[in-house]
Amino acid sequence: MQPEDPKSGDSAPGKAWSGRFAEPFDELTQRYTASVSFDCRLAEFDIQGSLAHARMLQRCGILPAADLEAIERGLAQVATEIREGRFAWSIAREDVHLNIEHRLTELVGDAGKRLHTARSRNDQVATDIRLWLRAEIDHLVALIRRVRERLLDMAEKHADTVMPGFTHLQVAQPVTFGHHLMAYFEMFTRDAERLADCRKRVNRLPLGAAALAGTGFPIDRVSVARELGFDGVIENSLDAVSDRDFAIEFLAAAAIAMAHVSRMSEELVLWMNPRFGFVDIADRFCTGSSIMPQKKNPDVPELMRGKTGRVYGSLIALLTLVKAQPLAYNKDNQEDKEPLFDAADTLADTFTILAELLGGVTPRPDRMRAALAEGFATATDLADYLVRKGVPFRDAHEIVARAVKEAEIAGVDLAALSVAQLKAFSPLVEPDVFEVLTPEGSVASRRHVGGTAPEAVRAAICRARARL
Ligand code: ARG
Repeated sequence: MQPEDPKSGDSAPGKAWSGRFAEPFDELTQRYTASVSFDCRLAEFDIQGSLAHARMLQRCGILPAADLEAIERGLAQVATEIREGRFAWSIAREDVHLNIEHRLTELVGDAGKRLHTARSRNDQVATDIRLWLRAEIDHLVALIRRVRERLLDMAEKHADTVMPGFTHLQVAQPVTFGHHLMAYFEMFTRDAERLADCRKRVNRLPLGAAALAGTGFPIDRVSVARELGFDGVIENSLDAVSDRDFAIEFLAAAAIAMAHVSRMSEELVLWMNPRFGFVDIADRFCTGSSIMPQKKNPDVPELMRGKTGRVYGSLIALLTLVKAQPLAYNKDNQEDKEPLFDAADTLADTFTILAELLGGVTPRPDRMRAALAEGFATATDLADYLVRKGVPFRDAHEIVARAVKEAEIAGVDLAALSVAQLKAFSPLVEPDVFEVLTPEGSVASRRHVGGTAPEAVRAAICRARARL
């Protein structure tokens, strides 16, 4: 900044890089390039990283002990000001990093200016995001766990409740409601696993890469990694400042989790429709219509389904952001934050409300069972019965298809046909056929690991509890 030229640099008081610039910063450009309006969210992690960096500089003889003491004192005050909402964020100071450094320098003088030794905002921001994302992942895994616990409790209660299972959304075979719920338990378990796996690659320290090439100062990255709880350092300085693959991985895991949420939401919406009537959803998760007085709409599951789209959008945004970026850091990367924040917030809200919503879902076993009276859900069981009596499966399939046709014409379920009527299709039919023609008989027979039998579902729940 040229003090004798009043115009020069004036629009950016406190700018950390204005020394080589001859023109003031255009206002729109300033707004366009600044990130403080959203990256201020990283403040807590920025301070954490700065403290670890400063302590390392002191240990390595790069920063005098008195300066470290001043920096620690100053950053503690900055943290308090931010927590209490007294911190004066300034768009002129571009981002969270420069805002904090500027205030620190106001508070402690030259020591504040020494903090940035052997560091760049490029490795600083990469460190901040990783610290933030690590905490978010831990939070999300805990929230997903609550949903998984709810599902286990519901599945246990309904291990014996029979309902139609669907393929192509047409009645296929009887299943237990507990088994159906456990399918979602498995999906959410994998979602949590994916997040935990991604955390391993998030939890590496970029700091020390400086702008891109590392630093000539005798730093000790490993000790910084240890202090910040990272599992290790990122090996290559160019890679450390430039890649955002860890964030893309998180968003991919988030997108898949939302896909699972959207499937469950869709089923809740369908099941609440009186044509199904499989569940009631508590009023507190529904809204009315401003014109149709009779309406009760399942807004919460609908919105969970709808919000899936924005998380997919975040994933595509980051994939596109990284695509074709030359090494190393580019300002494009500043655009990584908003999609990440939005996706993490959407997931946190969604899983929080999903756990509550499940508490407000009342299953209607009577309606589920009634739905089994239509659609010939035990037709496969009849075919399997004939197979056990020696009929080749393809022939049994054909025999049962004819029986279904007759029952359909008569307007009854297979179980409503008499032994004599069934014998007309195959002489092998005996009175014991009715054991497999009931929904209860059908599900009870599928008792292998992963099957829908009440005993198999209870065993699955037991294993799942051990895994939780
Ligand atoms: N606000 C920037 C970001 O989010 C910090 C890094 C800026 N680095 C730079 N050389 N301009 O990426």
